[in-house]
Amino acid sequence: MKEIKAIIRPFKLDEIISELHKINGLPGLTISEVKGFGRTKAKGVADSFRDGLYSYVKKIKIELVVADSIVEKVVNKIRETAYTGNPGDGKIFIIDVCDTIRVSTNESGDKAI
Ligand SMILES: Nc1ncnc2c1ncn2[C@@H]1O[C@H](COP(=O)(O)OP(=O)(O)OP(=O)(O)O)[C@@H](O)[C@H]1O
Ligand SMILES: [Mg+2]
Repeated sequence: MKEIKAIIRPFKLDEIISELHKINGLPGLTISEVKGFGRTKAKGVADSFRDGLYSYVKKIKIELVVADSIVEKVVNKIRETAYTGNPGDGKIFIIDVCDTIRVSTNESGDKAI
């Protein structure tokens, strides 16, 4: 199983979620409002703001843990939908997950996702 962590533009969220709902076997996901910066830092970028000493850009983080069999499908949907072709489109990280435990049933492994 893998965790897919995508940092995206906030205005793309609804479209991305609606594409993800079309995937069979999508178990769930978590969304957070985040701030950060990429390679170019946020200084001088139109939608950046100062917080303390540094500048940041507001983004949305989507986190999903999925079975290996649908990783490619999920990543492609996010990548295609998040794309505008401009700097700041975001990043997608793919991380190995050792195990998942479903608390209500004490199941673990793929069936717990
Ligand atoms: N290496 C990283 N590790 C963790 N978070 C990152 C990393 N790179 C980018 N981010 C997060 O993703 C957001 C969007 O990054 P962004 O798309 O601007 O990346 P970039 O490296 O500047 O590439 P681009 O040239 O496409 O803008 C950042 O504001 C930050 O929150
Ligand atoms: Mg950038």
